[in-house]
Amino acid sequence: MATTEILDSIEKKRTWLSVVGQLSTVVSIKTRNASPNLHPVIQIRLLQLGDIHMGMPRDPAIDIKDRKYPAPVASLTTMDPLISAARFAVNLLRTNPVDAILLVGDLAHQGNAKEYQKCVDYLVQLILDEWHKASKPVLCVPGNHDIDRTVIPLDVTVGQIWDKFVPLEAAWKKYGMPILATSEVKSFTVKKSEALAEITALNSCLGCGEYRGLPADLREAAHELVKKAVSADDKWKAIEQIDSPAFAGEHIEAAQRQIDGNHKVNVVLAHHNLLPQSTPRVALYAELINGGQVRAMLAQAKSPTLYCHGHIHDDPIEIVSVPNIGAAPMVSISAPILDHGFNVLELTYTNTGLPLGVIVQKFKIGRSHTFSARPHEEIRIPFRSSAEYFPNYQPPRSSMVEIIRRDDGSRFPALLDELNKSFSHLKEEDLAAMLLEAEWYGIVRIVDREGHPDSWQILRVSL
Ligand SMILES: [Fe+2]
Repeated sequence: MATTEILDSIEKKRTWLSVVGQLSTVVSIKTRNASPNLHPVIQIRLLQLGDIHMGMPRDPAIDIKDRKYPAPVASLTTMDPLISAARFAVNLLRTNPVDAILLVGDLAHQGNAKEYQKCVDYLVQLILDEWHKASKPVLCVPGNHDIDRTVIPLDVTVGQIWDKFVPLEAAWKKYGMPILATSEVKSFTVKKSEALAEITALNSCLGCGEYRGLPADLREAAHELVKKAVSADDKWKAIEQIDSPAFAGEHIEAAQRQIDGNHKVNVVLAHHNLLPQSTPRVALYAELINGGQVRAMLAQAKSPTLYCHGHIHDDPIEIVSVPNIGAAPMVSISAPILDHGFNVLELTYTNTGLPLGVIVQKFKIGRSHTFSARPHEEIRIPFRSSAEYFPNYQPPRSSMVEIIRRDDGSRFPALLDELNKSFSHLKEEDLAAMLLEAEWYGIVRIVDREGHPDSWQILRVSL
């Protein structure tokens, strides 16, 4: 039940309760004992795995002075950061399941089809085989490092534009998993009770590796460089920096149709960042050429949107909102390179399906070069403020909140008893839901929220 409905029902019962007064206290004790398992909010949990770069040379987690130590000995005494992170993510999935896995691309390092297949093989063997057999959703998008630039002709015709993605699709189809978004947008819906998340995967690599966007003399020179390069590394370096990533226009339209509607959370998955990163870049054409259009489109949606990406190997979270049009915020969430960690996104709703906000749990490798079962950082991002949800905060509702002590707070059991004296036989789970919802709006703060409500201390923040 949403806060507003609870408060309305309380107001209706108020007159009757003034007659039966003391009875409500007795009822409240019975109700509390009868509800040991509380489910006051609904959560849809997503695992966002960042760039993998299978095959990239990695320094062992060893003192810098020991880097020249014989490699076999060093490898025996240290852990491979990529393998450690992947194994930890899988163990976490088994102990605390998620509803979908999102892979943000750059599975390979130098656009080599064998390298890409090796990474797919590894992921399938590690978790995705059992995940797919259990019909659980997983989506993947291509990254700029997944594209084999050596097979792209100088002048690509319109009919050839998707050819460079065929080897990547084949790597997944080998396992009967058509999960990669290339020439078509991939999407699915996660529904949990009344809560809804629409997940849409977009290919942002349309221009990656293409020469046709370059001035004529430059593109011919670049093509020659790739042809002449001997090593895979040189081939990669010859063209990698003059890239022009882009979404297809028809994919932007498809995504726009997908995000229409209320009472849901849109999750859009793509490789590239929509906002320029904070670290300056000097490479030409490094940013998405139509990223601004997609950013503006997503930020005008009525329902909140999470834009989940990788590419920058860092993990900033940024919020874009457009004033005065009644739009919900767009939250851009980047996953770090997998060696450094990954994100678990907890989309949180009322038990009537109203989106409240997202909790981004950042699992990061620690100083001991291992992961901890607790997230390194947990960021709560509300989708709306109290002012937007309660523009006309009416007296019965505010008087209910005013019972909560502002300075040293109120204990949950005492608050329940207090409210039952004044209002109605409020159930423990309904009060817990109301308080959790009110916390998302910035009205109260709950100390020890992770514990049972009996241990909660509730502080009034506003109103
Ligand atoms: Fe990358």
